[in-house]
Amino acid sequence: MAVETGVKVLVIHGPNLDMLGKREPEVYGRETLADIDGELREFGQSRGIEVETFQSNSESAIVEKIHDALLGEYSGVVINPAAYTHTSVAIRDALAMLELPVVEVHLSNIYKREPFRHKSLTSGVVTGQISGLGKNGYILALQAIGMLVSNG
Ligand code: DQA
Repeated sequence: MAVETGVKVLVIHGPNLDMLGKREPEVYGRETLADIDGELREFGQSRGIEVETFQSNSESAIVEKIHDALLGEYSGVVINPAAYTHTSVAIRDALAMLELPVVEVHLSNIYKREPFRHKSLTSGVVTGQISGLGKNGYILALQAIGMLVSNG
């Protein structure tokens, strides 16, 4: 794959993802968020993509971080809004402002789970969604953003 230059991607993790490793490992795996973020940074480095990661349990902090992506620093955004996927009009509205590639990621396949998880409020305003591939979903999302940025 071609090496990108000057590509910076913001990865946002929503509520309870700071508990990965301890949280329902049969659903979300045994790796911690620090493990996953480290792998994303390493993968990014190998592709010339700078990766900034952010996690919050607070809807308003996530909305404000999305606002930061309006300032031109990032080439794309990867977001796992976690439970807010299914409830947050505020996060949807913030994402709708972005004119960058945005990939929504879910570790689990939300469509195979409880009916309340089948509805994503955010999927209608993002570029694409990856669901059910575990941490690989984040890697694929970074790759996709690299390709979208270089191919237009
Ligand atoms: C999740 C799926 C959501 O339904 C859940 O609330 C999460 C994590 C996932 O990554 O599979 O917290 O977004």
